[in-house]
Amino acid sequence: MTLDIDFVRGQFPAFQEASLQGQAFFENAGGSYTCQQVIDRLTRYYTQRKVQPYAPYEASRLAGAEMDEARQRLAAMMGVETDELSFGPSTTQNTYVLAQAFRQFLQPGEAIIVTNQDHEANTGPWRRLADEGIEVREWEIDPQTGHLDPAKLETLLDEKVRLVCFPHCSNVVGEINPVTEITALSHAAGAFVCVDGVSYAPHGLPNVGDLGPDIYLFSAYKTYGPHQGMMVMRRELGALLPNQGHFFNADNLYKRFTPAGPDHAQIAASAGMVDYFDALCDHHGGPGEGATARGEFVHDLMRAHEVTLLQPLLDALKDRNDLRLLGPSEAERRAPTVALALNRPAGPVAERLAEMGIMAGGGDFYAVRALTAMGIDPEEGVLRLSFTHYTSQEEVNKLIKALDQVL
Ligand SMILES: Cc1ncc(COP(=O)(O)O)c(C=O)c1O
Repeated sequence: MTLDIDFVRGQFPAFQEASLQGQAFFENAGGSYTCQQVIDRLTRYYTQRKVQPYAPYEASRLAGAEMDEARQRLAAMMGVETDELSFGPSTTQNTYVLAQAFRQFLQPGEAIIVTNQDHEANTGPWRRLADEGIEVREWEIDPQTGHLDPAKLETLLDEKVRLVCFPHCSNVVGEINPVTEITALSHAAGAFVCVDGVSYAPHGLPNVGDLGPDIYLFSAYKTYGPHQGMMVMRRELGALLPNQGHFFNADNLYKRFTPAGPDHAQIAASAGMVDYFDALCDHHGGPGEGATARGEFVHDLMRAHEVTLLQPLLDALKDRNDLRLLGPSEAERRAPTVALALNRPAGPVAERLAEMGIMAGGGDFYAVRALTAMGIDPEEGVLRLSFTHYTSQEEVNKLIKALDQVL
């Protein structure tokens, strides 16, 4: 089954928007376009339901029910229980709160493992636990390839380690890390696992229940939804970590690590993400039942399309000696988030691309540690070209042509 790209693009108003015509969008890892289903729900919420939710009057009842629906349907698609999914303002804020919980939970002398492949959001807050006497061990990437080798992790794991934090996929290296294998190694050593899925989830929602980590984070605004950070917290760990919310909410798992007042409208509108995935599933003849099966069908559909478009882009770049392609050159092994080190500042190259109708970015993308570890000056940064399943063959062709001119 191949993706019906016209159907897909029909679900995103940005592709019909006059001011965006002729612009090929290649900064999706920064934030995706929003699907119609989410926009519709957001508009409906703000026009019909913008009252305090969970009160007995009808507008309020509908508002609360829609917020519950979003959590229930997203959790089901990700293979976890409804109360194991919570919404926070952003992934950065979610990891910050989690780190506070671990600050209270861990004892001096215990250890955590972080990587230098991560976006700062899933490493900086954890590293600050060193202030509390927690030993912070760094699982380092290969300086040439950016690869995170699970064999290296094994040498860092011992009975002192309580938590291992790593990305499902880095936002500059792009390689998909073997979450199941890493989680199994960490669990066998008695450590919990926190995965940053921000750069992975837009390419197909994972079945977190199957993958196995204790915490899985991603950002809805990069996954066709509103500006929310989504956090799966498995029940066992959630009950052990000290509550960070109001004391009277401590028995509600989905409130324990989200102390900020929730953004009602955006949470409700997140149900539109599942409307969209469901529409994709039905349109392409996917399974009629089973939320995880439907999610996996959509995941595979998106991935297959992306891999097909990605390989020619990688082929056009991998052997050039005037640039360095970060991460694997085999599309199957990576997300379509392609960073190039150019040996000169990337910002001006992005500017030239913008003049040619290519929306892309240059910079460090908050992956300062990964770039530095790979010998790349974060000030110069990398040119990042990132796309998703809604990107067309024509857009990738246009990008390859434009790159030929600017590189
Ligand atoms: C891989 C990765 N992790 C975490 C984040 C932080 O997400 P948020 O903007 O929701 O805080 C980003 C944002 O760019 C990211 O790319």
